[in-house]
Formats: sequence, C-alpha cells, structure tokens
Amino acid sequence: MADPPLLSVRNIEVRFGGLVAVAGVSFELRAGEICALIGPNGAGKTTLFNAVSGNVVPDAGSIRFRGEEIAGLTPHEISALGGRRTFQNGGLFPELTALENVLVGLHVQVGSGFLGLLFGSSSARAEVAATERARELLWLMGIGHLAEQKAGELSGGQQRMVEIVRALATNPLLLLLDEPAVGLSPTARQQLAVVIRNLARTRNVGILLIEHAIELVMSVADRVIVLNEGRKVADAPPEEVRADRAVLEAYLGHA
Ligand SMILES: Nc1ncnc2c1ncn2[C@@H]1O[C@H](COP(=O)(O)OP(=O)(O)OP(=O)(O)O)[C@@H](O)[C@H]1O
Ligand SMILES: [Mg+2]
Repeated sequence: MADPPLLSVRNIEVRFGGLVAVAGVSFELRAGEICALIGPNGAGKTTLFNAVSGNVVPDAGSIRFRGEEIAGLTPHEISALGGRRTFQNGGLFPELTALENVLVGLHVQVGSGFLGLLFGSSSARAEVAATERARELLWLMGIGHLAEQKAGELSGGQQRMVEIVRALATNPLLLLLDEPAVGLSPTARQQLAVVIRNLARTRNVGILLIEHAIELVMSVADRVIVLNEGRKVADAPPEEVRADRAVLEAYLGHA
C-alpha cells in the first residue's frame, strides 16, 4: 500500500461567530510537493494555515499529518511532529539577535528534553551544533552578516528571512510559509524560490505556500489551490489555474 499523504485535510471548517472563514476545505499534500494557496484578501488562507499549525481549533473536519489526526493539537505538539510555520506579520523577538531568534526556535527540539537537563554536557554540544547550523542557514539565505543584529533593527525583508531560517533550522517535514516574499527585494525573492525548491527536491519537505506574489507562485508551485470566501475553487497545476475562469472571477470579483 502507498504511504499516506504527508498532510490530508478533510472538510475543514473554521467559524468566527457568524462568519465562516473556512467552509469545508479538503486537500492533500505529499512529501516533496510544493503547493501554493492563493486567493483574495479574507479568503481564509491564513485561517486554514492556523488550523493546520494548531493556532486555531477547527469547528469541523479532520487534519491528518503522516496519517495521524492533529486537528486540535497545540502548535507545540504539531511542531514536535515536524510541522513548522512562519507568520504573515512576523513573530520574531525584536530584542533578540537574528541568530538568537533562530536558536529560540531550535530549543523546542534541543533543550526541551528531560535527558538534556540530566546530561548537561551533551546538551551543550547540541547547543554548539545548533548554533553552527543556524549560522550556516543564515549565510545560505544571504543574511549571515546580520547574525548579531537585533531582529527589531532589521528591514522587513531581512526579518522575513530570519523567520524562514528559524522554521528551516528544525528540519521540518512540513513547512507552512505565510506570504514569505512580502518586503523582499527581487534578488531575495529569487533566493527564496531556490531555497523553497531545494527543500522540496533534496530534502523531501512538503511545502504549503500562501503568496500574493504570483510570479513566485508560478515559478515554484507544483500545484495551486485557490480559495475564495472560505471555499476551494480550484486545485490544479499552475498553468491550468492561470487559465481557470473561477480563479479569474475570484480575483476580479474583489478588485
Ligand atoms: N481571529 C479572528 N477573529 C475573527 N475573524 C477573523 C479572525 N481571523 C480571521 N478572521 C476573518 O476570517 C476571514 C478570513 O481571514 P484570513 O486571515 O484567513 O484571510 P486571508 O485569506 O489570509 O487574507 P489575506 O490575504 O488578507 O491575508 C476574514 O473575513 C477575516 O476577517
Ligand atoms: Mg492571510
């Protein structure tokens, strides 16, 4: 039998009072697949992410991660299983340096174990290894020279990169990126596209990408899911979605 999909979302519904933000959305994501989630403002993209990452408890439906039900688990529990995300509006500690911000993300794995408390020395070695890896990733994303700067003093685009490095540093199986290209220069966007593709192709990470930068979507996504008013209106390869009438209407209807 084939492996279960990395992520299987079934009939997810999220309500805020009388508002149905996500109205019965289903989709699957395989390991190594890059899937973009697009749609007009307020379509429910971030809310759907929140449900998958545990930041919102869905009112109905099922979310399976490697075959295991995760709907209603905490973000911490989901990240321990290998699901990581970035936030649309940052989420860095402004007073900590870029490097420290990445390490904070890693401590979920490195420092949380009871064994780490018992065996201080191996924990210290893990710390050194984590710091090296964090630096390496910062360089890889083109911001190695900013490692010691306070996150709050970085430009919007640089903060974005730090956030992405923080998510990557944990070797996630599933990566959720909420508008990662906002505030990035064209060069940084290209770097980001390369990193996203490499993660999927060489490390088999499944990637869900919310993005308004359509050229990035078209250049990296294997599949594009379109949401409109909480519903899925398309789920197809990028070139098909580009020509889809329902998609055009979803955008033009809100222009
Ligand atoms: N915490 C909340 N409480 C109440 N309503 C919310 C909450 N979060 C989102 N909403 C509403 O749910 C709907 C979907 O919002 P969501 O943020 O998921 O949209 P989005 O597709 O991410 O939009 P954008 O492209 O602007 O980021 C919107 O009508 C929004 O106002
Ligand atoms: Mg959003």
